[in-house]
Amino acid sequence: MTHFRPISIVAGLALAASVLAMNAHAAEPTVAPVAPAFPAEGKIKYVARDSILEFKALAEYHEPDWVNDKFVKTGKLPPLKERLPKEPLVYKTGNMPDGIGVYGDTMRHVIGGRPEGWNYGAGQTQGWGGIDIGLSECLTRTAPLFQVEAKDTEPLPNLARSWEWSPDGHKLTMHLIEGAKWSDGVAFNADDVMFYWDDEVVDPNVSPLNGATPETFGVGTTLKKIDDYTVEWTFKDAFPRQYLFAMAYGTFCPGPSHILKPQHPKYSKNTYDQFKNAFPPEYMNMPVMGAWVPVEYRPDDIIVMRRNPYYWKVDEKGNQLPYLNELHYKLSTWADRDVQAVAGSGDISNLEQPENFVASLKRAAQPDAPSRLAFGPRLIGYNLHMNFSANGWGNPDAREQAVRELNRNLDFRKAVTMALDRKATGESLVKGPFTAIYPGGLSSGTGFYDRQSTVYYPFDLAGAKAELAKAGLKDTDGDGIVNFPTGTAGGKDVEIVLLVNNDYGTDKSLAEGVIAQMEKLGIRVILNSLTGTQRDAANYAGRFDWMVMRNHTELSSVVQNTEQLAPVGPRTSWHHRAPENGQLDLMPFEQQLVDIVDKFMTTQDNDERTKLMKQYQKVYTENVNTVGLTEYPGALIINKRFSNIPQGTPIFMFNWAEDAIIRERVFVAADKQGKYELFPQQLPGKPGDSGPIN
Ligand code: GLA
Repeated sequence: MTHFRPISIVAGLALAASVLAMNAHAAEPTVAPVAPAFPAEGKIKYVARDSILEFKALAEYHEPDWVNDKFVKTGKLPPLKERLPKEPLVYKTGNMPDGIGVYGDTMRHVIGGRPEGWNYGAGQTQGWGGIDIGLSECLTRTAPLFQVEAKDTEPLPNLARSWEWSPDGHKLTMHLIEGAKWSDGVAFNADDVMFYWDDEVVDPNVSPLNGATPETFGVGTTLKKIDDYTVEWTFKDAFPRQYLFAMAYGTFCPGPSHILKPQHPKYSKNTYDQFKNAFPPEYMNMPVMGAWVPVEYRPDDIIVMRRNPYYWKVDEKGNQLPYLNELHYKLSTWADRDVQAVAGSGDISNLEQPENFVASLKRAAQPDAPSRLAFGPRLIGYNLHMNFSANGWGNPDAREQAVRELNRNLDFRKAVTMALDRKATGESLVKGPFTAIYPGGLSSGTGFYDRQSTVYYPFDLAGAKAELAKAGLKDTDGDGIVNFPTGTAGGKDVEIVLLVNNDYGTDKSLAEGVIAQMEKLGIRVILNSLTGTQRDAANYAGRFDWMVMRNHTELSSVVQNTEQLAPVGPRTSWHHRAPENGQLDLMPFEQQLVDIVDKFMTTQDNDERTKLMKQYQKVYTENVNTVGLTEYPGALIINKRFSNIPQGTPIFMFNWAEDAIIRERVFVAADKQGKYELFPQQLPGKPGDSGPIN
């Protein structure tokens, strides 16, 4: 069924033949080509879900001696036992790759983002790269599930230590960890959970960082407090176990309501903007449930975090976690993260920009290399998203509206996808067996991927031009760029603005590749290159025609952020959201995707779910829901001095590696510890006070 023909012949035909005749010769869709073999180097050791952690009281608890000597004995901190919950979360030794650890040392991260502030629940980024992941503790946890067999992958308990379903499956009762405290010593309880839900998720004026909206948990879902440590969910559907994934990072990680609530407009005179900005990056010691607390911020230089003396997780010997006393986030660039991790001046990187693969591999292969580098499955992918809203999302002007109409035309989308030479695109990033031809849709690295269900429109420029003509676009003024039909957008040249995140070289290279290839097709693409934070804002507001975007977890895991697989709610899709009236103008194939995803969310049967995802992939790729650009594997780079790094940890699956490696369990053996702590023997101070305390 493959219809690869020499392009020169096709081009020759195109000159001579009529549009109709050309159509007859256009390359036929086929299945996605087999990707070049690229065996993951780190083999995952699969374990049973319940072998990872449990909640129980232990006979005794320990902490670093200096905490006891300097803070407990002097009355600055209550004794450890009083700071821990009755039954802390206990990591089982058997699941810790190198076993029980020792205290000390620092993990030095490098990040390309910059902090807007600490109000995660109101949508502020802290700069990514694992910084917010480390601050956030969520009801459930999914990142470590990469090591659990697919059939066993119910999310792990976390702030919600257990849960049970009502017999009819419409109610889910969750029991929160009892007696756990925020890093400033204030009790964590159901009020924190309810503040997040009522005043951040449900309040339409607030959107938490990773975009949780009520429909993330199902249309019509409600949540109520039963008592201080019990909350109850009510769902429209029976047993929608899928939503347990939405209760993990990044959509159900409550903030400290005792600090946030007094600033929220419902309980103060603040505007929503004032609430959002009430905790700027300079605000130190923001209370967290995570293992480290921000204590130092120097703009464009570094953010430093110190161990949380109230952290509620321990090892089986009763040692309070984390083992590492300090975390650094150097404020640099994403490319520099790779460079520093292989050079040894940084400790960890997700090697995800193929432009850095060769140099990093070379350095890591040397015997004296300070870090380990291991590739995982092909789970990093990029798509070109077209804005599908024709009913007002982002208030388009006449040209933008005309582009939206084109985006909604299948002939047009086919033209675009067929005009892309994906082999050349991949090789422009890195030569070798890394990149694969990716038509779009589910990543080939997920268990739900089925190649036979993946429709691929092969590269065929002449065929693409014929599709463009079918979409009604002709070059009426002979300048090489097709024009809108007379009457639409003044019959002008078709110009499309492409939104791209300029924090990453890869995003920029891919966007430039799209521009060059579209020019050959006869479409002028203009770059709108913004920082990651501005890009996200433009995306959420619907201010884009097209957008090059790295895939999120829904395409790499399917079960995480599943609602983002289709416009199942007014604000769940990346490229098709509703204007303020909440109405989505779905095309028929999008409605099909929505129906499939809705069914998937409420189906328990694994075979049925596999079948549904095959249908999803077929409808998605046949209709060019997004235009796939490339996909490739990423590698985790980590300094060799760290222990307890699970073998084969993918840099991205349910979440990023910073979550998947379970940093609170990571340690450095005593004889390998570096002298990197900037605030040795110090602990976080009071919220809002500058710096840590002695
Ligand atoms: C950025 C980086 C990723 C990862 C995430 C964590 O997106 O590019 O590699 O570190 O942050 O949120």
